[in-house]
Amino acid sequence: MSPQDQLKHAVARAAIEYIKPKLTPDAVLGIGTGSTANFFIDMLGELKYDFAAAVASSDASAQRLQTLGIEVLDCNAVSELLVYVDGADESNPNLHLIKGGGAALTREKIVCAVAREFVCIADESKWVDILGRFPLPVEVIPMARSFVARELVKLGGAPVYREGVITDNGNVILDVHNLQILNPVELETKINQITGVVANGLFAIKPADVLLLGTKEGVKVIR
Ligand code: 5RP
Repeated sequence: MSPQDQLKHAVARAAIEYIKPKLTPDAVLGIGTGSTANFFIDMLGELKYDFAAAVASSDASAQRLQTLGIEVLDCNAVSELLVYVDGADESNPNLHLIKGGGAALTREKIVCAVAREFVCIADESKWVDILGRFPLPVEVIPMARSFVARELVKLGGAPVYREGVITDNGNVILDVHNLQILNPVELETKINQITGVVANGLFAIKPADVLLLGTKEGVKVIR
């Protein structure tokens, strides 16, 4: 396992230990997408008799959960998720995040919105002072792609069409480069207001509640 994967594995284990005492037989969990979330999903099999079901932020994660024998529910069938566990592409010290490197940002935002608590799991390469080194993913209705790209340029970004990627919702992704995001809440709000945008990868209006950050010195718990 690469050193980075060892850190991802460690934060997934820490998330298992974090949620274990909270589980109840009727609890439904929100589960994210990506390589760090995959480590978590694989470990969640150990606890599958301690909670009821899961809601997944992508078809890929839903399949992985089902393979382990964990029931996956439609989000509309659930009024509240006990917890949402997912990775991130960047986190700043306020636990404002950039997500969507795996193109699952819209469903991730929905699962996050329904969850009582968002537990973010990430290795230390994701820790930044200022968000924006990682290009900000924006999910866009296909016919609005060029219009939205022009609007994003007006906001100071350099959008790049993620060729060959169609989201689980049938939309496309623009990755916005060259941003130095000094006010994540403001930028998230502004991008949300562009017609044709489905969601953007900033999680600042609703940031993570806790970050389990994998470092060479161990897993840090940041609130
Ligand atoms: C997917 C995501 C992921 O959480 C993010 O890309 C981090 O992925 P990884 O754990 O593979 O580094 O937002 O849309």
